[in-house]
Amino acid sequence: MGEVIGIVSLKGGVGKTTLSAALASELAEKHDKRILLVDANYSAPNLGIHMDIISPQGSVQDVLSGKKLSSAIHSKYGVDVIPGNFLFRKDYSPLKLRTKLAYAKKSYDFIILDASPSLNDEILSALLASDRAFIVTTPDYASLSCAMKLAKLARQRNRSSSGIIVNRVVDKKLSVGLEEIQESTGIPVIATIKEEKIVHEGLYHRVPANLVWRSSSFGKEIKKLGYILSGKKEQRALWKKVMFLDMDKEEVNREMLRQDFYKSMFRR
Ligand SMILES: Nc1ncnc2c1ncn2[C@@H]1O[C@H](COP(=O)(O)OP(=O)(O)OP(=O)(O)O)[C@@H](O)[C@H]1O
Ligand SMILES: [Mg+2]
Repeated sequence: MGEVIGIVSLKGGVGKTTLSAALASELAEKHDKRILLVDANYSAPNLGIHMDIISPQGSVQDVLSGKKLSSAIHSKYGVDVIPGNFLFRKDYSPLKLRTKLAYAKKSYDFIILDASPSLNDEILSALLASDRAFIVTTPDYASLSCAMKLAKLARQRNRSSSGIIVNRVVDKKLSVGLEEIQESTGIPVIATIKEEKIVHEGLYHRVPANLVWRSSSFGKEIKKLGYILSGKKEQRALWKKVMFLDMDKEEVNREMLRQDFYKSMFRR
C-alpha cells in the first residue's frame, strides 16, 4: 500500500511543481519506486510542462468528474503522471481526490501531489488526500507566514506535515534562518535548496533538472530527499567523513524522517 505525499504551500511560485517533478522522477529513476504524480493545481496546472507532457489525453479534472483514473495516466521519466488541463471548467469535484486515489495506492509506492496555493477546495483537496505533507517555502517572511498558516490548517485537519523544504535561496545572509522557520512552524526543515540557473534550464528543456545535473546543488538536495522516502541511508559527503564532522540539524531531521519512512514501509 503506497503513501500519498502532498507537496504544498499557500504561496505561489515557491517551487512546488519543480520539486514534485524532481522528487517523483528521482524516486522512479534512481530508486526503482512505482510513482504516480498528480497535478492537484486545478485552476493553474503546469506539471505537464515540467514533465514534457504537452497535449495530454485525459486530465486530473476528467478523473475528478467521473472518468477512470487509468484513462488519464501518461508515462514520462519513469513516472506515471496525471496532468491537469488548462481549459476553464467547473464540472469536477476537487474534494473527490482522496477517494479517487484510494484504490491506486495499491499499485504505487508513492503518490505525489503537486498542490495549488489557493486557499479553497483546491489546497484542501491535496491536503485531505495526503498521508503526509511537505511544506515548501522560500526563506522570506512573506512565504514563512504562509507556511505557518498552512501548518496550522494541516494540524486542524489532522494531517501531519513531515518536513519543510526551503527553496530558492539566493543569499543566506538575507534569508530567514532554519531555527526561526522550525520554531515558528513547529516542523523540521529537511532541505535547503539554492536558486540555480540549471532549474530554469531544466524547465526550458522540459526535464527535471536533478536527472541531468546530478552534482548541482539542486541535484544533491533532491538526492537527499529521495533517500528519505526510499528509506536508504544518505551518503555523507566525503569531506564530512574525513573531518569526522557531526551531523548538522538538517541531516538529523532527515535521518529521523528516513527512519520513519523505513518503518512505515513494513506497516504498509
Ligand atoms: N531552486 C530553484 N532554482 C531556480 N529556479 C527555481 C527553483 N525552484 C523553482 N524555480 C523556478 O521558480 C518558478 C516557480 O516554480 P514552480 O512553478 O515550481 O512553483 P510553484 O510553487 O509550483 O508555483 P504555483 O504556486 O504557481 O504552482 C519556475 O520558473 C521554476 O523554474
Ligand atoms: Mg505549481
